[in-house]
Amino acid sequence: MDRDDARKRIEELRALIQEHDYRYYVLDDPVWSDAEYDRHFSELEKLESGFPEWITPDSPTRRVSGVARSDFASVRHDDPLLSLEKVVDETEFEAFDRRIRERLGRETTDPITYVGEPKYDGLAVSLLYEDGVFTRAATRGDGFAGEDVTANVRTIRAIPLRIRGGRWPRRLEIRGEIYLPKDAFIALNQGIEKEGGRPFVNPRNAAAGSLRQLDSRMTAMRPLAFFAYGIGRPSQPDLPDCHHALLERLREGGFPVTREYRVLGGVGPCIEYFQDLMKRRAQLPFEADGAVFKVDRVSEQERLGSVARAPRWAVAYKFPSEEVITVIESIEFQVGRTGTLTPVARVRPVFAGGARIAHATLHNLDEIERKDIRLGDTVLLRRAGDVIPEIIRVIIKPGLRRHPPVEAPRSCPVCGAPVERIPDGALIRCSGGLHCPAQRKESIRHFASRSALDIQGLGEKLIGQLVDTGLVETPADLYHLDVQRLASFERMGEQSATNLVQAIERSRQTTLPRFLYALGIPQVGQVTAQHLTESLGSLEALIRASEEVLCDIEGVGPVIGHEVRVFFDEPGNRQVIDRLREAGIHWPSPSPGVTDDPGRFAGCLFVLTGKLASLTRAEAEAFLRKEGGRLAQSVSRKTNYVIVGENPGSKRTEAERLGIPLVTESELLSWMKESGSLPRGSGGGI
Ligand code: IVH
Repeated sequence: MDRDDARKRIEELRALIQEHDYRYYVLDDPVWSDAEYDRHFSELEKLESGFPEWITPDSPTRRVSGVARSDFASVRHDDPLLSLEKVVDETEFEAFDRRIRERLGRETTDPITYVGEPKYDGLAVSLLYEDGVFTRAATRGDGFAGEDVTANVRTIRAIPLRIRGGRWPRRLEIRGEIYLPKDAFIALNQGIEKEGGRPFVNPRNAAAGSLRQLDSRMTAMRPLAFFAYGIGRPSQPDLPDCHHALLERLREGGFPVTREYRVLGGVGPCIEYFQDLMKRRAQLPFEADGAVFKVDRVSEQERLGSVARAPRWAVAYKFPSEEVITVIESIEFQVGRTGTLTPVARVRPVFAGGARIAHATLHNLDEIERKDIRLGDTVLLRRAGDVIPEIIRVIIKPGLRRHPPVEAPRSCPVCGAPVERIPDGALIRCSGGLHCPAQRKESIRHFASRSALDIQGLGEKLIGQLVDTGLVETPADLYHLDVQRLASFERMGEQSATNLVQAIERSRQTTLPRFLYALGIPQVGQVTAQHLTESLGSLEALIRASEEVLCDIEGVGPVIGHEVRVFFDEPGNRQVIDRLREAGIHWPSPSPGVTDDPGRFAGCLFVLTGKLASLTRAEAEAFLRKEGGRLAQSVSRKTNYVIVGENPGSKRTEAERLGIPLVTESELLSWMKESGSLPRGSGGGI
């Protein structure tokens, strides 16, 4: 085939595939079988590899690139992605409608036209099209800036790489929700469980996890879907003047738009729409947590404008949480990572909101006592969104004999060690420490979890077997497992064993905050781990830090400071850390340059107070840390300097009382200038 023929055929195939995707994802009326699709797709791939000069960015073969990234860049949205005001009942919805009519000066007899849509429970994204071609996708983030997820979104076949038809603004931002259809969610979880992984709690988390994969080939394997629900700037030439017409235009443009939206005249029809949608909620192929009502006329939307971060012309009417009645079949105490025993009720399975419920949390002993919950009781149970179901109250049946009240176990149900009450709390704890297999399993599960060292394929069942056979006692033992050993376990083939060993291998390279979090120090979550790292810089410094130093760190405080100290003072923990490091776990030094050169402020403790005029707080803190300084929140005798911005509070007074030197912003800027650390645009003229 010559170049020209190749070009013609490539263009033809591209158009055919695009048309098929449109028919499949938007019209739900496919023309090809999967085999036909694959045949056309591989023909296109072959031709493009023979004639790479004809490849264009919107070619369907360009959806998956083979490059993994290490993080997501930040993207500022052209116009902020607003959130929605919420109403919870008819009265509140009526008040919303009244406010709108008042603002628009409308008579009671003249109802507002609304569009009702499902409120999708997925992830909001903004898709940018320039000259009709998809160029960028960003998550909502804080509404003003989000993460650049272009490479991953490109893999979603429901999202067109080129808008169909003409007459579109040159720069168009499509807004909508990426979600995982319910059936795909069930299939995905079945697959994960089969491989011994931990299933996702709900489709929303699964979609978020899939979209945030660093390797877009992973995203491509998840059947994510999309619904468009709006655009960045609704009032533009060439675009319809009503929201419902805009939705239809978007559909023609190749974007999936729900068939569930309705144009509704006034409050009554809106309420009916809401109730109907709620009734059909479980049957919908996607997860919805309510309805969204929007004023249909774009000119009216504009007149209404927005307050703070939500438009006045739209509202979210959430479904109420679901309540069901069931019976408590048993009450068990589950042993957590740090030994805390949490009571859980196993209940006669019931369905609520499309999910099967077989257990409910009882929180703690006080809660059980307060609600007087006992074995065999008939109870009212609530499932709100994705939270673990909880028991609202017991339904007392007169004349029925009840079981005696629940008593706290005296010994750990797993290891038999005595149970102790945590001072000042309703919590009880197994005193067995890491000798308790349940605590061991939980600590390993935590170590391998996504936010910790993220060892994929190390599921609950396998951890159970590894601990029960004594092969793994602490996380450090994971690094001595080999394929042969692993493959001998139940439901572990050679391939899964190899994958797991590779995942363990990969986890050797991590970051200090992740490692700290993975250690499972009581009270140290991801944020605290980050604070500890930023403040102390290295694991060695952290191990050496006194309780006083720890307590002074921002976001740490006396309770956590104490826990951290106790943890590192325990020889068993130190030994595990040493063994982990010997096994090759490593991380980059957190702030380049700090480790070798201790910096001019090494060992100095700073406190910042008041607002800085030409620097952000983060910039000032970063500079001080880079130079070896540490930051604390409150002024004490140990503070070396207090940096004072505009309108300083009591910290300044305290510093003066203690005779601690005060540093002005311009002094700070001149320090920065000397170190060559002055950020651009911060008025370096001093
Ligand atoms: S419209 C200006 N429509 O709800 C209007 N949002 O609180 C802003 N959402 O995270 C959004 N379904 O992703 C709109 N049919 C729908 C929606 C919807 C779900 C989400 C949206 C955002 C949140 C806003």
